[in-house]
Amino acid sequence: MKKLGIYIHIPFCLKKCKYCDFVSFQNKNKKLIERYILALIKTIDNVSERLDVNTIYIGGGTPSYIDEKYIVMILEKLKEKFNVIEDAEITIEINPGTINESKIETYYKYGINRISIGLQSTKNEILKKIGRIHTFEKFLETYEIVKKVGFNNINVDLMLALPNQDIKDIKESLTQIIKLNPSHISLYSLILEEGTELEKEVNQGILNIPSEEIERQMYHTTKRILESNGYKHYEISNFAKENFESKHNLNCWNQEEYLGFGIASHSYIDNKRFSNIDNIEKFINNVEDGKNNVIINEKQTKESKMKEYMMLGFRKIEGISISEFERKFIINPLFYFRFEISKLEKEKLIEVDLDNIRLTKKGLDFANMVFEEFV
Ligand SMILES: C[S@@+](CC[C@H](N)C(=O)[O-])C[C@H]1O[C@@H](n2cnc3c(N)ncnc32)[C@H](O)[C@@H]1O
Ligand code: SF4
Repeated sequence: MKKLGIYIHIPFCLKKCKYCDFVSFQNKNKKLIERYILALIKTIDNVSERLDVNTIYIGGGTPSYIDEKYIVMILEKLKEKFNVIEDAEITIEINPGTINESKIETYYKYGINRISIGLQSTKNEILKKIGRIHTFEKFLETYEIVKKVGFNNINVDLMLALPNQDIKDIKESLTQIIKLNPSHISLYSLILEEGTELEKEVNQGILNIPSEEIERQMYHTTKRILESNGYKHYEISNFAKENFESKHNLNCWNQEEYLGFGIASHSYIDNKRFSNIDNIEKFINNVEDGKNNVIINEKQTKESKMKEYMMLGFRKIEGISISEFERKFIINPLFYFRFEISKLEKEKLIEVDLDNIRLTKKGLDFANMVFEEFV
């Protein structure tokens, strides 16, 4: 029997952060939120097969921005249409500027068992510069509420290479967060996305971001500090206490199947990849008219599936298991990708060690060069 991951996309935010180009937008129109949620629920209702589900991830945007009754409606519909297994991991992303105790209690009551909090930095000046709606103090209040309600699986999102951030800031942020003892920390290097307000301000010289060399130093400092405090570095940008790795993300990196609901969500099932359109009005109208919202429908060949398995596998710090690859594809990856592997080994970007092929320390800094070999 198949076990699926489910992703739900909530594209609304109280205010758009300056660096963000996710499919998410500032919206105060309650009617639009309601129409979107009802449309999204209808797409869940259209699923005909009752499949086993082992992870649910409610992301965005800011799922905690909308009324909690909508989250409950989505969860109830998922439980009606799928067999959500007993110890399923159910995550919701929250922003500290959009939280009250009643929301967190409702999430807990309806079976959410993992909370992912967007913080980015503990420095209020930096938070202000990047357009966050909250302070570090507000984050601390949120964290307290989340703990008090009973959650023990909590992720905190932090960012590296933010405007005017230096290594001292990173060290201080990590010390402050480690004290709280979250089970999971995600650390993303800033991607200066085209067309964002932050990109404009950096290009105009209004804000300065650290050089690539400093960014690499920040990354390795972070890795060292988190590892020496009991966090396992298990994916390029993710650290977890033992047994608290994100099951949902591991599913994706292990090329397991998942279904996405809502605008701009992706699905991977039966060797096919699908994407939904990202226009919210069109999405709602299509659902209301009984039309499809899928824009890409790509069937994988065996070769593209193997290449993708390598690319996703390199994201994990343990890398690709040779025996697992052989079991899945009935061929040895060291033979099938002998030219790529030998080139990358010579460049000291990857290493082969007993059953694993993985990024080296240099490979962690230049992972894109490794991924390019498997496109
Ligand atoms: C959907 S948001 C998390 C929940 C909530 N919307 C929030 O921001 O508090 C996902 C995370 O992606 C990261 N992120 C977003 N844009 C990024 C960018 N341009 N570069 C690096 N990380 C980014 C941030 O760490 C953010 O917390
Ligand atoms: S980082 Fe989060 S809160 Fe900020 S705009 Fe993106 S999705 Fe919204």
